[in-house]
Amino acid sequence: MSYALEKMAEFFEKRLADYDGHMRRDIGGAADFYAFTASLLPAFPGCRVLDLGCGAGLELEEYLAIAPKAHVTGIDLSRGMLDALQNKFPGRPGLELICGTYFDVELGQGYDAAVSVESLHHFTAERKLSLYCRLRDALKPGGYFILTDYFAESEELERQYFEDLRVLRQEQGLDEGMYHYDTPLTEEHEAEILRAAGFSSVKALAHWGATAVLRADTREG
Ligand SMILES: C[S@@+](CC[C@H](N)C(=O)[O-])C[C@H]1O[C@@H](n2cnc3c(N)ncnc32)[C@H](O)[C@@H]1O
Repeated sequence: MSYALEKMAEFFEKRLADYDGHMRRDIGGAADFYAFTASLLPAFPGCRVLDLGCGAGLELEEYLAIAPKAHVTGIDLSRGMLDALQNKFPGRPGLELICGTYFDVELGQGYDAAVSVESLHHFTAERKLSLYCRLRDALKPGGYFILTDYFAESEELERQYFEDLRVLRQEQGLDEGMYHYDTPLTEEHEAEILRAAGFSSVKALAHWGATAVLRADTREG
């Protein structure tokens, strides 16, 4: 196989210069799904939102325009992406950025909602289950998670992506670290994991090609 795997954060840092342009131009539906995703988040003054894999924050540009008094915590592996996001909102109070992996860093507590856009399609069901359990606990009772991401078209393709990654790792002598390679789950599998993590309902709210917007609710207290 010819695809050279790159460490996750390094992959994004190398492409930082034209990252926003690439996302808006080349990802089907991006002209609409960022604004749609932002419109689903709470917008009252002082509301608290967690963004998993915020990167340079295309969804946050849309969101902070409609929720100027929101408090946002963004987690991302890439320092370069976070710096690019911070530079879009110099000195803005209530924007807290944490550099690290959302699988390890403390997520915090008491969020009204969480969001993740085009970040979680690199990980296994097992890793997502433990993340989603922690995420459910980080949300207030009645809080919710908006997941905008792209999904595999079939279970067969889902299996194939993971198998291709296994072969690439083996060929390139790479460990179990995080490398950039797309391994989306099917939408049904993703919803099953969210329910297994304790979210009470999971609904698909919109689709743009392979990208779907899912809403996962916690129970009211
Ligand atoms: C395609 S970008 C999307 C960024 C942003 N959400 C957007 O749509 O503009 C994916 C982001 O997820 C981040 N990421 C990938 N795996 C991560 C992990 N395990 N923990 C935190 N961030 C991660 C990458 O560093 C990158 O910034």
